[in-house]
Amino acid sequence: MGGARRASDTGRHLGRVSVLGLLVSKKILLIIGGGIAAYKSLFLIRVLARRGIATRVILTKGGSEFVTALSAGGLSGDKVYTDLFDLTDEAEMGHIELSRSADLVVVAPATADLLAKAAHGIANDLATTTLQATDKRVLYAPAMNLRMWESAPTQRNVKTLADDGQYFIGPDEGEMACGEYGPGRMAEPEAIAGAIEKLLKGDTTLDGLRGPKPLKGKKALVTAGPTREPIDPVRYLSNHSSGKQGYAIAAALGRLGADVTLVSGPVAIDPPACATTVKVETAQEMLTACEQALPADIFVAVAAVADWRSDGPADVKIKKGKDGIPALKLVENPDILASVSKGKNRPKLVVGFAAETNDVTEHARAKLTKKGCDWIVANDVSGDVMGGDHNSMIVVTEKGEDVFPRLTKADAARRLAEKIAEHFS
Ligand code: C5P
Repeated sequence: MGGARRASDTGRHLGRVSVLGLLVSKKILLIIGGGIAAYKSLFLIRVLARRGIATRVILTKGGSEFVTALSAGGLSGDKVYTDLFDLTDEAEMGHIELSRSADLVVVAPATADLLAKAAHGIANDLATTTLQATDKRVLYAPAMNLRMWESAPTQRNVKTLADDGQYFIGPDEGEMACGEYGPGRMAEPEAIAGAIEKLLKGDTTLDGLRGPKPLKGKKALVTAGPTREPIDPVRYLSNHSSGKQGYAIAAALGRLGADVTLVSGPVAIDPPACATTVKVETAQEMLTACEQALPADIFVAVAAVADWRSDGPADVKIKKGKDGIPALKLVENPDILASVSKGKNRPKLVVGFAAETNDVTEHARAKLTKKGCDWIVANDVSGDVMGGDHNSMIVVTEKGEDVFPRLTKADAARRLAEKIAEHFS
C-alpha cells in the first residue's frame, strides 16, 4: 500500500510511534458511551497523546449521537470501532483481540446503562463484549444525572464492578447539563489522564469507588426514619420522618469507606447499597438493634424516635363505639442516643440530631450536654425539612458551630461525612 497511511495502519503501529507526532509507549482502549460528557473524551484523547499514551476508540451507538467517529479518529490517528458485526473490522482485528490489544481499558463517559451491563455480564454490542472479553484492568469515568448516579441499582453496579477489581474516577460534583447540582459530572480529562498514568504504572492505590476512603477500617452505626409504636394491631403512633437524611448519611459514610450498619424505622425509600440495613419498627427494637451493632467508632442518631409508646398495646383491634373514646396511656421510650452515648460500648464519636422549630442552636447545645454526645446537628424543621429533599444543618460541638448552607440532603450528608472523616484524620 503506497501513499498516505490509512488510519487503521497507524493503529496497528500503536505502541511504537506517533500520535500527534509524539512517541507513544502505552496504549489504551477508550470506550466512549452515550452521554453529553462524550465531548470531554475527545479532549482526553489529546491530553493522553501529549503524555505519550495512544488511544484506540470504540464508539457506542449512544456515543455516536454526541461525537462523531470522524472526530475521535482524527484525534486518535486510528480507526474508530463501532460495530460488533462489521466483517471488515473482524477481518482486521477481531473483537477479542481488540479487547486485549491495549494496556488498559477506559470507559468515558460510563453511562448507567454501560455500568449495568458490565456489572451483569451483558454483552450485546461491541463495547460490552469487549468489556467482558478483556483481560486488562478497566477504569470507569461515570457521567450521568445525579439521581441516576445515586440510585440503588447504579450504586449496586458500581460496587459489583469495584468488588470485581475495576476502578473508578469521579463523578465530580457540580452543575450538570440537566440543570441540577450534585455528583454526576464526568471527571475532567486531566484527572482521568492522571488516573490512567497511575494505573499504567501499576499504581493501584486509586479509590475503588468514588473519592478517597478516609474512613476505611471504621465502623459506623446510623439510625434513621421514624419509629412506629403500636396502639393495637392496626393503629400506631409515629411521625413524618422520611428517613432520607439518615439514609443519605449512611450512604455518604459508606462511600468514604466506613463499614456502616443502618438501623431503620419503617420508610418508603431503598436502602443504600454500601450499608447493612436492619429494619425495625419500635424504639425498643431500634435500641436492641443498635446495641447488637456495637461496638462502633461512629454513631449518628438521625432517627426521629417516638418519645412515647402506648403502655400495653391491645392484642385485638380496639372497637369504637360503646365505651366512648378510649384513653391512651403513654409511657416514655428509651432514649437510644443517650443510652449509647452513656453506655459501656460508647463509640468514639457520637453525633445526635436536634430537630427544632425555634431557638435551634440553644436547644441543640442543651441537648449536647443532656445526651452526652460529642456533636449535635441542629436543624430547623419548621419548613420543608421533614419529608423534603433539602436541609440546613448547624453542627454544634463543644468548640463552636459549623453552619452548613441550605443543601440537598445528599450534599448535607456528604459534608457531614467529610467532617466526620476530618475528625478522625
Ligand atoms: O430529644 P430529642 O428527640 O429532640 O433528641 C433528638 C436526638 O436524640 C436525635 O439524634 C434522635 O435520633 C435521638 N433520640 C433517640 N432516642 C429517643 C429520642 C431521640 O435516640 N428516644
